[in-house]
Amino acid sequence: MAVLKIARMGNATLRHPCQPVKDPTAPAIRALVSDMVETMLDAGGVGLAAPQVRVPLRLVIFQLPPSRADIEDAGADDVEGGHEDEDAASGATDPTTLPLHVLINPVITPLGEETALGWEGCLSLPRMRGLVPRYTHIRYSGVGLDGKPFECEAKGFHARVVQHECDHLDGILYPMRMTDLSLLGYNDEWARHPLDAPAADRPDAKAAE
Ligand code: NI
Repeated sequence: MAVLKIARMGNATLRHPCQPVKDPTAPAIRALVSDMVETMLDAGGVGLAAPQVRVPLRLVIFQLPPSRADIEDAGADDVEGGHEDEDAASGATDPTTLPLHVLINPVITPLGEETALGWEGCLSLPRMRGLVPRYTHIRYSGVGLDGKPFECEAKGFHARVVQHECDHLDGILYPMRMTDLSLLGYNDEWARHPLDAPAADRPDAKAAE
C-alpha cells in the first residue's frame, strides 16, 4: 500500500475520458484500489477516482459516512472534502471502519428529472467548494472487485457522490457542472461570508467601498 500523489485541476489525466478496466479481478486492480483507499483516507476524502491518482481507468471508490448516507441530501456536505475542510474533518466516525464501495466501469442512469443543489469539494481542487446541481435519484451499475456485475439505486448524498466520482472518469470536474460560478469559492471565505449573510453585513462590505 502506498499514499499516491493526487492530481490537481489542470493535470492532463483529469481532462480526458478514461478507459474501461479490462479485468476487474486482476491483481494490479486490487493493488490500485488498496493504494487509492490509503490515499483517500490520508487526504480525509469521502471518495476518489482513479484519474485523480493519474491512472486513466474507469474505477472509483467512496465511503458514505452514516450521517450522510441517508436519503436526504443534507445540503451542507462536501463530496470529497479533505483535511483542510473543517466540515469534512468534524465527523466523529472513524473512516477506516466504514464500508468501502468500489465501482468499476460504472454506468449512471438518472431516475427522473429532479435535481438539487448541494455543496461539493474535490481533492483535486483543494480548499474550495461550490454549489453543484445533481440528479437526486439515480440508478448505477458496474462491476466489483470480484468481477461480478451489480446494480443499485441511490438518492441524495449517495447519488451526489456517485455522480461526482463518475464524472472524473469522463474528464469532468464539479465546476464544469455548476450553473452559477459565483457559488464557487474558497472554504475559508465561505466560512467568513456565508451565503445567507446579507452583503451589507459581511465584514468586507465597508472595506470595499
Ligand atoms: Ni473529485
